[in-house]
Amino acid sequence: MMQVAQLQNNNQLQDVLVNNVDSMGNPDGLRLQMTYKKSNHVFNGGGTTLALLDYPNSRFATTEALYRLSGSGDKGHGDLSCENCHGSTHAIWPNKNPFSNDNKAAMDLQGHAGPIIECSTCHTGDLGVTLDGPHGMHPVGDTRFSAGGHEKLAEKNKDACRACHGKNGEGSVLSRVATDRTLTKDEHGNKTIHLAKGELVTCNLCHKNKL
Ligand code: HEC
Ligand code: HEC
Ligand code: HEC
Ligand code: HEC
Repeated sequence: MMQVAQLQNNNQLQDVLVNNVDSMGNPDGLRLQMTYKKSNHVFNGGGTTLALLDYPNSRFATTEALYRLSGSGDKGHGDLSCENCHGSTHAIWPNKNPFSNDNKAAMDLQGHAGPIIECSTCHTGDLGVTLDGPHGMHPVGDTRFSAGGHEKLAEKNKDACRACHGKNGEGSVLSRVATDRTLTKDEHGNKTIHLAKGELVTCNLCHKNKL
């Protein structure tokens, strides 16, 4: 995964604002606050133009379609449009106001506000050990995946975990728990850990850091 700092060093990212901390105080450094940058293209009459930042290999989205229209063939999941899990264009979940009606659909569907991350909202049963969820997600919560099932996947392809859990397994804004969770910490299910909504899942919470 290309880090933002790396892109900046390569001069691939100029004049963009990087988000330094998230709304819960976690360090960010991965997400940008802009979708446009200055373009080298100059019109006949002079003046600068703006160009849409486009990352064709992004796991989240391409600029091929408007958010409102994107879905099938884009980077959603199944044939779902983005709005199914993120809310409508001008009311993307979560709304910061806890009493906002915008949050009601997500609360009713999965028990908490924010993008639809609980696989059980749409799937039944055990999804197994997979990274074929939305944007390459695995099943979330206290599942077989979490309680050690990830062992082989992680050993085979460490970069697959680094993409969201950070280069050294230190966690990132892409590995925050979406709600309070109690997770099994060992194979036998004897020990558990508690994480509060917004905490980062790091690779040393349950065992020695494998990254
Ligand atoms: C099946 C549900 C689902 C669909 C469909 C979906 N997403 Fe997501 N998206 C998620 C989940 C779950 C996350 C992770 C949220 C988290 O980390 O809390 C996420 C995260 C993201 C993020 C990173 C958000 C951030 O700032 O932390 C972006 C950007 C994103 N999605 C864009 C899109 C776009 C664009 C589409 C449509 C092309 C789309 N998503 C379709 C479920 C979905
Ligand atoms: C908003 C509904 C929705 C949510 C939430 C959702 N899925 Fe899906 N998922 C779908 C749909 C629709 C399909 C496509 C089903 C089909 O093609 O028959 C699918 C397909 C899949 C498949 C099969 C993929 C393939 O390539 O064959 C896997 C694995 C999967 N989902 C895992 C997950 C995981 C893991 C999560 C939670 C992180 C999740 N899904 C969340 C709707 C959802
Ligand atoms: C919620 C607890 C939990 C978290 C967080 C967690 N693991 Fe694990 N992991 C386990 C359990 C349980 C096992 C199986 C029992 C054991 O070996 O301790 C396991 C086993 C492993 C193994 C094989 C064990 C070995 O000794 O070789 C690897 C590799 C691994 N995890 C990688 C990771 C990576 C990478 C991350 C971060 C992305 C991570 N784990 C985060 C619970 C966790
Ligand atoms: C697309 C992003 C993404 C990738 C790739 C990813 N994770 Fe995660 N992981 C998350 C998020 C987000 C959470 C927190 C989900 C939650 O609990 O709401 C999480 C949570 C976990 C948990 C705790 C269970 C849980 O639901 O909180 C374990 C264990 C884990 N990840 C291991 C791994 C391992 C091992 C890999 C590589 C094989 C990996 N993850 C790859 C985003 C990712």
